[in-house]
Amino acid sequence: MADVVPTRLRCEYLTNPLAIDTPQPRLSWVLQSGDRGVRQTAYQILVAASPEALNKDRGDLWDSGKVASDESNQIVYAGKPLRFGQPAWWKVRVWTNKGQASDWSEPASWRMGKLAPADWNAKWIGSPEPAPGGKDLPQRPSPMLRKEFTLDKPVKRALMSASALGLYELRINGKRVGDQLLAPEWTNYKKRVQYQTYDVTGLLRSGANALGATLADGWYAGKLGISFIVKDGPLRGHYGRRLGLLVEMQVKFEDGTTRTIITDESWKVTTEGPVRRACLLDGEVYDARREMPGWDEPGFSDSAWAAAAVLDEAKVHLVAQPNEPIRVSQVLKPVAVNEPKPGVYVVDFGQNLAGRCRLRLRGEAGTTVTLRHAEVLQADGSGMIYRDNLRINANGPGTGALQEDQYTFRGGMEETWAPAFTYHGFRYVEVTGLTGRPSGEWIQAEAFHSAPPIAGRFECSSDLLNRLMQNIVWTHRDNMHSVPTDCPQRDERLGWMGDMLVFAQPACFNMDMAAFFTKWTQDIRDDQADDGRYPDFAPHPYDPNARFSGVPAWGDCGVVVPWRMYVNYGDRRVLEKHFDSARRWVDYIHRHNPDLLWKNRRHNDYGDWLNGDTFKLEGFPKGQGEVPKEIFATAFFQHSASLVSKMAAVLGRSAEARQYGELAEAIRQAFVKAYVMPDGTIGLKDPQGRLLGHTQSAYALALAFDLLPDQQRAGAAQRMVERIDAYKGHISTGFHTTIMLMNELTRNGYNEVAYKLINNRTIPSWGYTIEHGATTIWERWDGYVEGRGYQDPGMNSFCHYAIGSVGEWMYRTIIGINPDEQQPGYRHVILRPQPGGGLTWARGKYESIRGPIASEWKIQDGNLLLTVTVPANATATLYVPAAEAKAVTEGGKPADQAEGVTFVKMVDGAAVYELGSGTYRFESRGYAR
Ligand code: BGC
Repeated sequence: MADVVPTRLRCEYLTNPLAIDTPQPRLSWVLQSGDRGVRQTAYQILVAASPEALNKDRGDLWDSGKVASDESNQIVYAGKPLRFGQPAWWKVRVWTNKGQASDWSEPASWRMGKLAPADWNAKWIGSPEPAPGGKDLPQRPSPMLRKEFTLDKPVKRALMSASALGLYELRINGKRVGDQLLAPEWTNYKKRVQYQTYDVTGLLRSGANALGATLADGWYAGKLGISFIVKDGPLRGHYGRRLGLLVEMQVKFEDGTTRTIITDESWKVTTEGPVRRACLLDGEVYDARREMPGWDEPGFSDSAWAAAAVLDEAKVHLVAQPNEPIRVSQVLKPVAVNEPKPGVYVVDFGQNLAGRCRLRLRGEAGTTVTLRHAEVLQADGSGMIYRDNLRINANGPGTGALQEDQYTFRGGMEETWAPAFTYHGFRYVEVTGLTGRPSGEWIQAEAFHSAPPIAGRFECSSDLLNRLMQNIVWTHRDNMHSVPTDCPQRDERLGWMGDMLVFAQPACFNMDMAAFFTKWTQDIRDDQADDGRYPDFAPHPYDPNARFSGVPAWGDCGVVVPWRMYVNYGDRRVLEKHFDSARRWVDYIHRHNPDLLWKNRRHNDYGDWLNGDTFKLEGFPKGQGEVPKEIFATAFFQHSASLVSKMAAVLGRSAEARQYGELAEAIRQAFVKAYVMPDGTIGLKDPQGRLLGHTQSAYALALAFDLLPDQQRAGAAQRMVERIDAYKGHISTGFHTTIMLMNELTRNGYNEVAYKLINNRTIPSWGYTIEHGATTIWERWDGYVEGRGYQDPGMNSFCHYAIGSVGEWMYRTIIGINPDEQQPGYRHVILRPQPGGGLTWARGKYESIRGPIASEWKIQDGNLLLTVTVPANATATLYVPAAEAKAVTEGGKPADQAEGVTFVKMVDGAAVYELGSGTYRFESRGYAR
């Protein structure tokens, strides 16, 4: 009994969440068992309104009874209706195919958030002065708000829900509430504003208490990426100009009575506080002389403060934040502090990160320290920082991202400060205004970002590839700020969809993206244009009906990301929510392109962005990069149509599955007819009859989307390899086709060519960037070239994840972990490590929604030793590289006789086995001789 334990209980992908506003939340757990071949055959869930009831095995909200099922994920709560404030305590037990019954799991909980406007009593409040009119909204001091109240009885529990139009930071009795940064984060505020819920029991006391809040512009009223594109429009204030605060705290006393503290006209407000300016892009200006000690504690005299105004314009749709908040994930110390000019200190943190610096310094009252952040140093060796790529004033006065913080000392003591309402993309920070070289731990960097649990770990015998994976993971972290951003430094930081389209799978390998994508797919739907066009970035603050929407690949992200969620997490509900939206996008393209080639309405038409034709490199042949935009677009049209058909099939909508399946097949045929020449070459004839686009990208695209008839695949793969040779053995692909190239080389028998590309150290390659100091993935393959210097400062970020999509190939091919879309959510996993490229060992682990999957191999004495772990309640197909099936053993026995192992057949130099759960040790004798 009890060799099996249900663990990791979660509700809506979160551990013990305090506010769930989905009326029927979904529950999941992970089965733990050391045995082989364990499958869950049934489960029972109990949900109770109190821990006491749960303890007595009373499911007074829901007793599922014993349900025959192997599902451990996406189980929909089906008990009594849940209302706001309802706590739900739950546990689960399971039965297995081995005749085991588990004990009840450890209990977990969730609590229902506010489900309707009527659940709120609080009022939106803010400064009494109306927001400034005029074209542009000036940067301004942050309002501070406060309220005192008395609690005359011992408190049992207090929960506080809060939101802002703008950003908020809350304090109770002198202490910060929660560790969340930049709350309530970014949404289309016109459609929804998130609130957060905190357990503040420990912050309250009997007697007098005080609540304090500071607000800032943030995404709501601040400057946003590329706001200059709206001609004659403002740089700031895209969603609104007047900042607002909403707080509602439910206090439950030991004696069972309750009290609610809310924002209302009894609060006081001032704009005389220390935060003089705060902008996400430009930075924060803080004058410590204006601090008001005690303002967030009871007994402070706020007689000079004004009465807060109730904002009646705030008709806001509030939703509970569905994903993990933005938090500090790592603190970094300087690796060097240099003084390239007298009084100019350049601090190197050794890592390009997104976040802020924290100072601990003494200074004379009234003197100001300025921090200017940069990703790289000047190419001239002067040791000064390079900031041209921040585009400061490059698109008109006030445009760009200043990334500059200023701190003015209060004086007379050691002062500690970090900005609260901004973030920067940087490795280096230039500090000026100091009176001498500081000593001790005077500066640190805090990396922060939306912080879901880490899911994947990767390591191998190559230092270069280990650094590459670290660069990919850092770039991912640096670009998770409520939305997946393109970059964290210049004035963009937008949820560019084309970037996440290609990074979605590696993102899922790196982190548990389920809750984050739940939020972002809603952002995508919120900003879909009326005619079905998806935005180029989501959220879209500049009206997707007017501009920046409807682009091939960027728009297709609206179809691809929900599908990735289904494949990786088995999330059927996201498909239900998203299906109509995805279909509208495909219908939009179809409506304007009835002949099935996507020639019309490609809008900004970025194509395979930053491909070889954009490189500024000597000695490489021209015209070897781009796949013609029409070919690129048509391929994505086909891909989206086929995914919509698959979504329909999952949802049981068979008529639509057939309809979009037929459409996809018709587009595929039109593609072949128009772009595949009789000899198998792919391209587009220009008016002079020349063939354009016979490039690596064209073949990678056609192969990756299965657009070619079977008999043409081998020829296309061969041409793809020839195109690599023609490009001196290097990559000429752009954002979207790079990962396709890598995957298709491996899939079509050219694994060694893929390894050669990933091991390249000459430009263009990942290795070149690493050997030139990259600690994150560059936007451009040639962002910096020795002797030439930096690329066009108008667009040259050193922290863009798109070509880091090769992380997907590293997990799929080196470690060999592949999700199976036929059995999503890792109910079944395809394990296919394919050693090569001179690697002698590799190991990786992926924390799937079904439990940990591990794969580890090494080559020893000419034999391949391979250890894999399949989680309980999952199965795997394993490909063991082998000369012949006879050469493979497991645990010292012929593999086909081992427990839980079934030999299937030999495929392309691998012995294929079906495995149940458990850990297996295979040896492939003579594999590497
Ligand atoms: C962004 C990209 C984005 C692109 C659209 C750029 O400025 O940084 O990553 O996808 O614009 O082409």
